[in-house]
Amino acid sequence: MRLCEALKKHIACGYYPAHMPGHKGNPEYSFLGDIIKYDVTEIDGLDNLHDAEGVILKSEKHAASLYGVKESHFLINGSTVGILAAILGVTKQGDKILIGRNCHRSVYNAAEINRLDVHYIYPGLMKDIGICRGISGEEVDEILREDPGIKAVIITSPTYEGISSDIRGIAKAVHKYGAVLIVDAAHGAHFGFHEEFPESVASQGADIIINSVHKTLPSPTQTALLHINDVNGVKVNKEKIRKQLMIYQSSSPSYLLMAGIDNCISILEEHGRELFDRYLINLKLLEDRADKLKHISVTGRRSFHEEYGIEGADPCKLLICSSQFDNIKLYDILRTEYRIQPEMEAENYCLLIMTIMDTENGFARVINALECIDEKLENSLTGLHGDADPIKGRKNSDGSRLNDILYGSRPVKRMNAFEAVDRKSESIYLKEAVGRISASYINLYPPGIPVLVPGEEISKDMTEAIGYALDRGLKVQGITANKEIKVHG
Ligand SMILES: Cc1ncc(COP(=O)(O)O)c(C=O)c1O
Repeated sequence: MRLCEALKKHIACGYYPAHMPGHKGNPEYSFLGDIIKYDVTEIDGLDNLHDAEGVILKSEKHAASLYGVKESHFLINGSTVGILAAILGVTKQGDKILIGRNCHRSVYNAAEINRLDVHYIYPGLMKDIGICRGISGEEVDEILREDPGIKAVIITSPTYEGISSDIRGIAKAVHKYGAVLIVDAAHGAHFGFHEEFPESVASQGADIIINSVHKTLPSPTQTALLHINDVNGVKVNKEKIRKQLMIYQSSSPSYLLMAGIDNCISILEEHGRELFDRYLINLKLLEDRADKLKHISVTGRRSFHEEYGIEGADPCKLLICSSQFDNIKLYDILRTEYRIQPEMEAENYCLLIMTIMDTENGFARVINALECIDEKLENSLTGLHGDADPIKGRKNSDGSRLNDILYGSRPVKRMNAFEAVDRKSESIYLKEAVGRISASYINLYPPGIPVLVPGEEISKDMTEAIGYALDRGLKVQGITANKEIKVHG
């Protein structure tokens, strides 16, 4: 029996809960109604996440088999905890690590905790849209050749926007130098289940893979998986990784979340094919209609391929751009006039995530809204300055320049982040910070990728770009409302 069935069986048996949690499964006052009953704790028959040997282990084995890996672990604190456990599980204090600069904050946190000597690999930028390209095996090989002391490499693939790196090539390079490859595939839990979707990261030879099942699959928020692949003769110390998971995950993991992961795995096992087929039919209809829009472009797997020559972009990510107003406004219009909540707004586009759980109706709501906005634009522009080239929508010169600087520049590293955060710092105005050393992380949120890391020198371009982002109303973390930044004293 696996976790979901065991949980249902336990509830059906009618035990009186003389145990935690304190809500006692009593629906009185519960905003979850009867569902609260399923929120139990480690009791007889329901196994223990940290020492799984019963129904949880069985469910984890189903996950491992579905993803084609040696072992999978349920995560109830998102990919965040998987990334911490993976990095801390394969490095010792002071080790050298190679990090894709576009990595998530948790990667930087892990490097700080283990006082790692961080080296970066910078993905190129797609100029007019301002998002990161993938990283190639050759680029990683070149860095490792120059610095073979690097113990681990961590790459984000696919990215938030759905762009993949050449994991097969990178794995080859990493293994040639005896290092371990960790792939943050938080956004790629749905890869590998259909031939029209990109290949799964695990099948391309990464050693440790982290998937947020909650991001693109039917699983509750916070749920994720950490997979260990044992194929390359690379020695990943599984015990050490398990220990890190024990340190960083709650000792009272939620059964609602864990059963949610188990349920997600059985949906994929039993209905995966039909759900991915249905998704692709709906997507194709949307793409065909989107091709006819005059003032709005929908950049997804098709246009990434045709316009940017990018293979294997995630079919679940749609970047919506328009030449006729900046995309923050497009984001607002979708929300307020059409009650469609996009995933995020960026300088040059707004991002929609569609998944196998989106129905025909859901797809129709999105494309109907875009057609409506497009038509209104066409009517208001006829005879005026109408510009019917949707690609131009992405060519916002200020925006491109902003992203070029924020994500395309390579700040000079004066010291590692772990050293920088321990030093005395002071807050000064951003415009006075040129040449000083940052004492904090500066992130544009979303996507939350640091544009400045503690220990890096602040350039004039960077202060201007951050100031511009603040003036545009973008969320910049690490800077106060009156534009103060922490620097070294
Ligand atoms: C690339 C990437 N990695 C990791 C994470 C963390 O994932 P989670 O929210 O599941 O902890 C995120 C979150 O957005 C992310 O974008």
